[in-house]
Amino acid sequence: MKPSTGKHPGAPAIEVRARPGQPLGMSPRQFLRDYWQKQPLLIRGMFHEGVNAVAPDDLAGLACAEAALSRIVLRDEKHNRWTLRNGPFRERDFARLPKTRWTLLVQDVDKWDMDVAALLDRFAFLPSWRIDDVMVSYATDGGGVGPHVDQYDVFLVQGIGYRRWSIDAQPRAFSPAEFRDDSELKLLREFSPTHDWLLDPGDALYLPPGVAHDGVALGECTTYSIGMRAPSRAELLFDFAEFLAEPLTENDRYVDPDLVPAQDSGEIDEAALARVRQALPHFANVEKTTLARWFGSFITRYRSAQIVATPGREIGLAELQRRLSKSNVLRNPFSRFAWRRDGREAELFAAGAALRCPTGLARLLVAEREIDGNALAGLTTTPQALATLKALFDAGYLQLIRRR
Ligand code: SIN
Ligand code: CO
Repeated sequence: MKPSTGKHPGAPAIEVRARPGQPLGMSPRQFLRDYWQKQPLLIRGMFHEGVNAVAPDDLAGLACAEAALSRIVLRDEKHNRWTLRNGPFRERDFARLPKTRWTLLVQDVDKWDMDVAALLDRFAFLPSWRIDDVMVSYATDGGGVGPHVDQYDVFLVQGIGYRRWSIDAQPRAFSPAEFRDDSELKLLREFSPTHDWLLDPGDALYLPPGVAHDGVALGECTTYSIGMRAPSRAELLFDFAEFLAEPLTENDRYVDPDLVPAQDSGEIDEAALARVRQALPHFANVEKTTLARWFGSFITRYRSAQIVATPGREIGLAELQRRLSKSNVLRNPFSRFAWRRDGREAELFAAGAALRCPTGLARLLVAEREIDGNALAGLTTTPQALATLKALFDAGYLQLIRRR
């Protein structure tokens, strides 16, 4: 472990010491340029006066309040297991805890305690609305929440006592398979720290999102986590769409007074897609295939009153081919079907699913309620077409019936 230097000569240092008038050990501008959302930084003495804004007993008291968000994490070192308990807690819950290897965490303590809220003054160089909360943890010797990664930037400020922090300094995205499945805590299966430090009271460790970390208390200690708020893009999109939709009235709808007789009534044609685009002017730049895939899925799911039951067992490809020659095929009346041209092929929509399909097959599936099995087999000549057909039977959207 090399705690105190940057990885390459000339690279920004990973550890600095606060200076009078510079609690970050540098100007806020330099911190934001070199570290913010980019790389971790240990700031020795950021709170040189020490941080003891909330006493452990008061934190435990807050963890008993109905409205506070609190957790206790117990660590079984021998079996490498963590147990999570959610608050609110009762006084006697604390009396029953072991002497060591547990930690109490309470979120939003800044909303309850003015002294904790005052810690935020040192972060006034950040937009205040980017700060989510101050979470305070109290840990007994050996306590911690295990190796994990957070989605948000965080400053981990050491309150009373000492904690050893290990980090893997390179921020990265983690796949779901990299997390253990034996705990409600999102713990990492593998953790290979590149750095570790013992934090003294008043030291702060800044971590951008995606930096794996693990903190273990050395004796009793408290940690103040100043956590940032970064809504996911999905959250932004959902909320924005809701915001745009809110003032629209019920009678403001998809309209098609320019409709001409359909060439194929199951087709979502170019004119229909142009009307959809017109109805959604805020998304005028969305790619055509994205808009079309979404609309086809939406409109074939839309207002479907029933969820179609699956047949219980999947049909084999050979069995499907054999039975098609002797059967007719029925579309489940609750499964809406539509299709659209996509180059030389089609995209078939069935009850919200989008499947690649030869155009002739898509046309036939959408046009007829009861389809001659031989006609269907005649159009299902490629492995991909057969796979599409099988998917429709397996989902229960199509079923085989004895030919009448
Ligand atoms: C803790 O205070 O024990 C956990 C803080 C964190 O890792 O985010
Ligand atoms: Co964390």
